[in-house]
Amino acid sequence: MLDAAFTPPAPKPRIIPPGAGPSLQGYLRYFRIMAHNPLEIWTDGHFNRLLHHDRLFGRSYAVVHDPEVVRHYLVANAGNYGLTKLRKALFEPLLGRGLLVAEGDLWRRTRKALTPAFTHRHVRDFAPVMRRVAEARADALAQRAGETAPMTREMMTLALDVLIACLFSDDSDLDTALFSQRIDELLKLAGMPHPLDLVDAPAWMPRFGRGKAYKVIGGLRAQVAAVLKERRLSMKGGDDAPNDFLGLLLQAGVAEGAPLSDEEVIDNLITFLSAGHETTARTLTWTLYLISKAPSVYDRILDELDNADLASTAPETWSDALPYLTAVLKESMRLYPSASILSRLSLGPDTLGDIAIAPDTEVITSPWVLHRHRRLWRDPDIFDPDRFLGEAAKAIPRYAYIPFGTGPRVCIGASFSMQETMIVLPVLLKKLRFDFADAEDPTPIMRITIQPSTDVNMRISLR
Ligand code: HEM
Repeated sequence: MLDAAFTPPAPKPRIIPPGAGPSLQGYLRYFRIMAHNPLEIWTDGHFNRLLHHDRLFGRSYAVVHDPEVVRHYLVANAGNYGLTKLRKALFEPLLGRGLLVAEGDLWRRTRKALTPAFTHRHVRDFAPVMRRVAEARADALAQRAGETAPMTREMMTLALDVLIACLFSDDSDLDTALFSQRIDELLKLAGMPHPLDLVDAPAWMPRFGRGKAYKVIGGLRAQVAAVLKERRLSMKGGDDAPNDFLGLLLQAGVAEGAPLSDEEVIDNLITFLSAGHETTARTLTWTLYLISKAPSVYDRILDELDNADLASTAPETWSDALPYLTAVLKESMRLYPSASILSRLSLGPDTLGDIAIAPDTEVITSPWVLHRHRRLWRDPDIFDPDRFLGEAAKAIPRYAYIPFGTGPRVCIGASFSMQETMIVLPVLLKKLRFDFADAEDPTPIMRITIQPSTDVNMRISLR
């Protein structure tokens, strides 16, 4: 427990479910909350009971926060659960046949082809690139010593720079400024599920306000397609493929005689950008925020950093050299898990705890609720990194903590992202001091990720 326990901001669980009773008023209240901040939908009951069976808009939902039942439907009996219509409606227009929305044989083939790109060896090879990009951002921030800088935007830029460098190397003709601007626009446009998707309206019904998103997507795809074409040409000319994700995806499945098509390579590069950019950026922002609000944690981190010989340690092993900072990062992902909803649709009947599941039932687990569940965590709302160290860490039930999901569809980029954050944070914190400079604390708001409601401005100084 911390000397001065810090309870970071979170909406208070509501007492009564917003859609209680099939009344027009209940539905309107539900829509209002979903539009404002879906994190406010959760009730005291959800944080105190492990299983729920709800009905909304005539559909059945099972809400599962019992770690054993999480294991059952996401791991042991995962074959009985497909993706929800909402996930497809939200992401298919952007990601096409990419891994995040693929199902059945397409998913199996794609996951098998992509897995080698995320092996320890390849992820490790990205460490110097991650370090270089982080150092460049630290140098840019150092120029602003004495001023305040918005961490929300700084970390979005940094995480996008890392991904672009790992996807396409530096030698491509990609107009990165235009690319970043399009990604930014897309995040703004795609941030909210369309109300029609929430009530399961069929795909052919027009969704207003989507035209602009399709235009931006078209622009992004054209940029990636041009880099791909250029790469194929240079490889035909005998050049070695650079060691980046594009090169790895062009090799994916080749040895097995099942290479990815150009469309699939583009879909999956855009998938990595979509799934790996904002999630990692939010994690970095929340972590800096938490550290800056907890002086005793900040002091311990600096102590650890100053006693570790990072200069002569390979950056991919910094996490081993910095166990306390690693625990801080884990605690940050417990309190603010970027991906705050996991959901599946049952294909056949099943039993979840004491709930009989009929086919076509939606099953939902929210890492936001699971990670703050009153029955699973001591002082669940308090920021306490020590819970991820030593004996305390061993006592955490295996499926009570799943920031990267679990089972066959677990995040393919988990170790990439952990390595990235454990390179970026030491680089930033060793060189600079971050002091929270806003009058108000940010509130967590769920869009596609859990994002802070403010810019999270920090006063930057040199250490
Ligand atoms: C802090 C950072 C990240 C978080 C919190 C996160 C979280 C998640 C979660 C929870 C899932 C599982 C979704 C489900 O079961 O329905 C997932 C899947 C996925 N993630 Fe991540 N992710 C992160 C970073 C990344 C990165 C850096 C990449 C790629 C470079 C990536 C690529 C993917 C892909 C492709 C999937 C789909 C896997 C499949 O369905 O087989 N993620 N992520």
